[in-house]
Amino acid sequence: MEKIDLVKEVRNEIKDKNLKYTILTFGCQLNENDSEKIAGMVEEMGYSKADNFEDSNLVIFNTCCVRENAEERLFGKLGEIKKMKEEKNTIIAIGGCMMQEKSMLEKIKKSYRYVDIVFGTHTLQTLPEDLYKVIIEKQKVKNVIDIDGEIIEGLPIKRNDKFRAQVTIMYGCNNFCSYCIVPYVRGRERSRDPEDILEEIRGLAKEGYKEITLLGQNVNSYGKDKFKYCKKEVKSDIDNFAKLLRAVCEIDGIEIVKFMSPHPKDFTFDVIEAIRDCDKITRMIHLPLQSGNTKVLKEMNRGYTKEEFLELAKKMKDNIPNLYLSTDIIVGFPGETEEEFEDTLDVVRKVGFEQIFMFIYSKREGTKAAARPDQVPEEIKHQRFDRLKELYDSEVEAQNKRYIGTVQNIMIEGKSKNDETKYCGRTDSNRVVVFNPNGKEKIGDIAKVRITENHKWFLTGEIV
Ligand code: 5AD
Ligand code: SF4
Repeated sequence: MEKIDLVKEVRNEIKDKNLKYTILTFGCQLNENDSEKIAGMVEEMGYSKADNFEDSNLVIFNTCCVRENAEERLFGKLGEIKKMKEEKNTIIAIGGCMMQEKSMLEKIKKSYRYVDIVFGTHTLQTLPEDLYKVIIEKQKVKNVIDIDGEIIEGLPIKRNDKFRAQVTIMYGCNNFCSYCIVPYVRGRERSRDPEDILEEIRGLAKEGYKEITLLGQNVNSYGKDKFKYCKKEVKSDIDNFAKLLRAVCEIDGIEIVKFMSPHPKDFTFDVIEAIRDCDKITRMIHLPLQSGNTKVLKEMNRGYTKEEFLELAKKMKDNIPNLYLSTDIIVGFPGETEEEFEDTLDVVRKVGFEQIFMFIYSKREGTKAAARPDQVPEEIKHQRFDRLKELYDSEVEAQNKRYIGTVQNIMIEGKSKNDETKYCGRTDSNRVVVFNPNGKEKIGDIAKVRITENHKWFLTGEIV
């Protein structure tokens, strides 16, 4: 049966029943973007979004397996939902990265038999079919494939935000950092046709979106796969990330362009030049360090040394005025010694990151690092985490002072949570700013705000 017919049939079956759905998303922005597509598909089938989890007739989990705690949260929630299933026969679907792991798939099949649908990262688009089988044919469905999925364009999408949109430009990762499960569950790098990406963004601009975040596990290797996973031949001369960035910036109506995440080893000078030349591109760039020690970096298979990272950060700062850097750091990688950890602290002091996402190393079965016998004891990992956090907290205050007196472009996100009479938004570097409305700018507009005061976790300012 054609997909359209399936959708129609499910719509007919559930119409007038006022059925509601909830999607619980774990993990990164790529998963969030996938969840927006899942929402698009289920709304097309006639479901509407539930206000409360308890009222849902369909619950979809979009899972993550990057660290162990995401898995624990899923199993906690699955236990909770069992009762709901018994009371009102809620349909339960689980998809995303975790389902690409054989051991997890087995666990769900064995211990969570009440789950109706299991789908993987490459089978997202078959959700309408899967739902059809459950609702009309009363079957259970397991729909996970191992191969790298072909790129699917044109899925319906229900976005979470009216002004900011995320656009996935490539899927998968080829880097095989030794701690990371992503290349095993998301498959090889697959770049979308640049024309499809630009068309999507032009459409978003027409709908009133002002900020675009380009997403991929490793955005600056965009195009390196020569677009071999695209369904049709790619004719565009946009064949790398720098060219794509410039093309996105030319789209009228789009005022802010962000991207997540680049890899330091592939951060070529043409990308630095593109950022320097295009005002629309954010001045907050994410540059994942992971470790500041050359030996650990080598064992992590990161492809750069401590010195190369410092050099890159300097080159970026020298060429892009007002640049802010954010980063990811893992503490307690197998074999990490005290001195090696100190190197990480050293890089943090030298670079002065604006934001640090800190992670305790989490052993992922199947990765190279998980097999190492020299795992760092939990207690030491936690101590190192606390020491890094302490350093970071002390830097936040110093960094905040940099803002006083500067004028920042702030997209007005809404009313301040603590004071309804005030607006709030974020700087390019993700700092929350609270300010008085001036009667002209409204929510969704981009206002010029002079920063006047620094409160540890937010700034205040006034529209100029
Ligand atoms: N343990 C801890 N952190 C990890 N990350 C990826 N894999 C692991 C792991 N096994 C972190 C990295 C990456 C971020 C998205 O998650 O810092 O950049
Ligand atoms: Fe994981 Fe490394 Fe790929 Fe990032 S670049 S997704 S950390 S393997």
